[in-house]
Amino acid sequence: MQATNTNHSGKRVRRMFGEIAEHYDLLNRLMTFGQDRVWRQCAIRAAGVPKNGIVLDAGTGTGGIVLDALKTDNTLSVVGADFTMDMMLMGRQKQNGNRITWITADALALPFKNACFDAVTSGYLIRNVSDAFRAFKEQARVIKPGGRVACLETSPPPKGLLRPALLLFLNRLIPLLGQIVSGNRAAYTYLPRTTQNFPPPWKVSAIMRSAGLIRIRYQRFMFGTIAVHVGIRPKC
Ligand SMILES: C[S@@+](CC[C@H](N)C(=O)[O-])C[C@H]1O[C@@H](n2cnc3c(N)ncnc32)[C@H](O)[C@@H]1O
Repeated sequence: MQATNTNHSGKRVRRMFGEIAEHYDLLNRLMTFGQDRVWRQCAIRAAGVPKNGIVLDAGTGTGGIVLDALKTDNTLSVVGADFTMDMMLMGRQKQNGNRITWITADALALPFKNACFDAVTSGYLIRNVSDAFRAFKEQARVIKPGGRVACLETSPPPKGLLRPALLLFLNRLIPLLGQIVSGNRAAYTYLPRTTQNFPPPWKVSAIMRSAGLIRIRYQRFMFGTIAVHVGIRPKC
């Protein structure tokens, strides 16, 4: 693992994830009724990594996406980059954790050469960075032409009959669950707040496009509160 520098808001985010690292996976499973694994699989499929390919998971946390990717395809080489060491230390203890090359890095300044990965994935990263455009631009830079960037992220609850129930779940139940399981209500108040402030999927597509990706598609889950986006780096 290598060292990294980050700005002020990055430091706060890093401290928060450091505090919840121990309970992160359990809470994810509970909050999503176990569906988080299905969405991660969807992001992996969307990334379309070829056999024997090399994939970067930006904001890898405890490595959920790449560990699941390895279960599907054991020939992959996987790199997990994150700026919170405690999250990666939890991931390294998991089965196959030693198959991941863990790198401490800021997603806004990836320490990799241009065009060195077949694909880049991220799970719940973009909502946390201070500049989504820059994060996607970095991801587009490090994939080979023709490679894909796949992004799994929460989405603001769409308008409609279910919205009040979804807001109740986000703003009341998630902080309560966070408090009970991790003792950190603040971190699980941050999640609903950043989800509601995050751009809707069509705007995320526009940011990806402006970062140089093409043929952007997305799929929504969990009543529209989760989205998986994918875009391709043009061949020329
Ligand atoms: C919600 S967790 C997601 C972890 C994992 N990707 C998953 O799917 O469960 C967000 C992760 O992004 C990391 N992160 C946030 N901003 C970052 C940045 N600027 N550079 C690197 N990692 C960042 C955090 O440290 C945290 O581990």
